[in-house]
Amino acid sequence: MRFKLPLGAIVLTLLASCAGVDSTPATAFQVPEIEMTTAQLEHGAKIFKYKCAACHSMDVDKSQFFGPHLNQIMGRKIGELESYKFSDDVADFDFYWTLENMDAWLENPQQIVPNMCMPFLGIKNSEQRLALIGYMQQASTP
Ligand code: HEC
Repeated sequence: MRFKLPLGAIVLTLLASCAGVDSTPATAFQVPEIEMTTAQLEHGAKIFKYKCAACHSMDVDKSQFFGPHLNQIMGRKIGELESYKFSDDVADFDFYWTLENMDAWLENPQQIVPNMCMPFLGIKNSEQRLALIGYMQQASTP
């Protein structure tokens, strides 16, 4: 079952939480899908294209791009994709890509997982981060 949350509610939740990742392994793992307008989705797709697509694909068949594919990234544990050989630095991390963790990482990537995705230095605008996360959810295939 998929849950829909209005974007505004998520922004408020995220603003209320502080920076840093929560390493508590979540049990039920279905990250609620962010409800987005077509314009927000297009915005997210554009951000992905300019900031991520040089190294990542949303397509599982392109897992050997330069970075791992990001299909179904939300809800997965960091560095767990079997088809990709992660560096030890990343494989040693132990958290799940929840909405909160992904948002915190996108805001301060080098502070949270140093050296992953260099030279990506983060997205300060929370609406842009949410549009990107929503896009990664919508562009995922089961
Ligand atoms: C310059 C290339 C590059 C860019 C640009 C880049 N990444 Fe990465 N990314 C990587 C590489 C390489 C890894 C694997 C790192 C490792 O194993 O040390 C990675 C890992 C990741 C992971 C961890 C995957 C997992 O399964 O846990 C996520 C999430 C991620 N990138 C998201 C993004 C997003 C979102 C963007 C755009 C905002 C982005 N990256 C931009 C190269 C890049």
